[in-house]
Amino acid sequence: MNYDLILKDIKPTPNEKNEINELSSKLMNFLQKSCDEKGIGANVALVGSVAKNTALKGKSDIDIFIAFPLDTDKQYLKKVGLDLAHECCSEFKSIAEHHFASHPYVTTHIDGFEVDIVPCYAINDGSELKSAVDRTILHTRYVKANLSENQIDEVLLLKRFMAMTGTYGSEFKVGGFAGYLCELLIIHYGTFENTLKEAIHWKYGESIDLENYGTSKSFDDPLIVIDPTDMNRNVGAALRLDKMAEFIQSARNYIFSDNKEDYFYPLSRSLNKQDILNEFNDRNSDLIAICFDIPDIPLDTLHPQLRKTTEALERKLNDEEFNVFKADYWSDEYKSAIILLELASSKLNDIKVNVGPKVFINQACENFVAKYGRENCYVQGDFLVHTQEREFNNAKDLVEHIFTPDHIRLIKVGKNLKKTIIDTFRFINIDEMENDDYLKFLDDFINPGQYIVR
Ligand code: UTP
Ligand code: MN
Repeated sequence: MNYDLILKDIKPTPNEKNEINELSSKLMNFLQKSCDEKGIGANVALVGSVAKNTALKGKSDIDIFIAFPLDTDKQYLKKVGLDLAHECCSEFKSIAEHHFASHPYVTTHIDGFEVDIVPCYAINDGSELKSAVDRTILHTRYVKANLSENQIDEVLLLKRFMAMTGTYGSEFKVGGFAGYLCELLIIHYGTFENTLKEAIHWKYGESIDLENYGTSKSFDDPLIVIDPTDMNRNVGAALRLDKMAEFIQSARNYIFSDNKEDYFYPLSRSLNKQDILNEFNDRNSDLIAICFDIPDIPLDTLHPQLRKTTEALERKLNDEEFNVFKADYWSDEYKSAIILLELASSKLNDIKVNVGPKVFINQACENFVAKYGRENCYVQGDFLVHTQEREFNNAKDLVEHIFTPDHIRLIKVGKNLKKTIIDTFRFINIDEMENDDYLKFLDDFINPGQYIVR
C-alpha cells in the first residue's frame, strides 16, 4: 500500500509548521525571559508531539513545560508556574483556562492553536519523579533520540488510523492510545503496517519492554508497555480493555480490507435526526433516557464517574431481571449528562423466585423456612426457593427509587455526581436534547461497529 497521498493529507504543511515553530519560540522566549528576570531558576522546554515532530495536521496542541529545580517547594512551583502562565496569556492577549486534573496547568488559545503551559520538576531519571507530569520531558528526549526520521511518518499513520477508528487519545473520555504510546509502538515494531500485523496476535497482558527492565510482571493491565524513562510505569495504564480490543479488531479489518484508504478518513454520515429516531423505533426496544446536571469538575474526573454510574445502573437493572441490551452515556461536558438504557423490555411480571440455600445445608434451610413460611417454600434443582412479589416490575420505577437520598447507595454512583443526580434527574424522550454531538452519540449507540470497519 502506498501511503503518500494519505501522508499529504495528514502531515502539517510547511506553512503550518512555520507558524507553530514561530509561535512556540515566541512563547518560550517570553516565559524563559520572565523566569530569568525574576531569578526563578527554571528552564522552559517544548515537549509533546510538536517537539517530537509527530503532530498531525491541524491538530497540534503546543505543549510548553516550565521545569523547576528538584528542590523547589511544591506550593511555590504551583503558584509561580501558574503566575508565569497567566503573564504569558496576558502578553499574548489570550484567555487562560485552568486545569486541576492531577496537576495544575493552564490551557489557552493563541492564533488558533491550543497551548498548554505546564509547571513541572526537572528530572533526569524516572525515579526522581515528584509530580505526575515530570516524565514528559524525558519522553520527548527519548522519542527524539530513538524514533528515526522515516518512522515519523509511521507514527502519523498510526495516530491517524487510531483517530479514525475511535481508539486514539488517552484522556478518560476515550481511554485509548496516548501519542507517546503510539511512538513507542513504532519504535518497537518499526512500521505502521507491522504494528497492525503484530497487534492482531496480541493477548491480554501483552507486554513490550524496550529497555529490557524486566518489570512487566508487576503490572496487571491489558497492554503493558514499560516506560523506557521509568521502569515502574506502564505507558499503557490508561488504555481501557475495550479500546485495546477495538484496535485489534480494526487492525484485522484493515489487513483484509480492499478500501484501506477509507480507514484514514472520517466516516461520511448524514446524521438525520428523523432517520436515527426511526432506527431506534425499528428495534422495538424500551428506551430509558435519564438527564441530569453535572458538577463543575475536571473532565478526567467527570467521565470515569459517568461511566461507572452507567455501568452500575445497568448491573442493578440486570440483577433485578430487567434485560438491558445496551447502556451508554453522553455529556455536553458543561451542563448536563444523559444515561441511555436500551432494554429488551422495561416491564416484568409481578412475581419472582427468591433463591435460598442448597437443601443439603440443614440449618440454612430451617432459617429460610422460618422466614418465609414452610408451606411457601419449594425446591428448584437442589435449591430451596420461594416465590415472592417483585418490588418493582417497571424499570423506570426502579430507577426513580434508586436516585433518592435514601437509596442511592444501592448502586455505586460516582461520588461527585450523587447530589446533582438526586436533585436534578428526570426522564426525557431521546429526541428532547438538541445538540449535534448528542445526535452523533445516538448514531454511535445504534451503529456501534461503524468506526472499526470500512
Ligand atoms: P499530549 O496528550 O499532548 O500528547 O501529551 P502528544 O504526544 O503531544 O500527542 P498529540 O499529537 O498532542 O495527541 C503531551 C505529553 O505528555 C505525556 C507524553 O510525554 C506526551 O508526549 N503524556 C500525556 C503521557 O505520558 N501520558 C499521557 O497519557 C498523556
Ligand atoms: Mn500534544
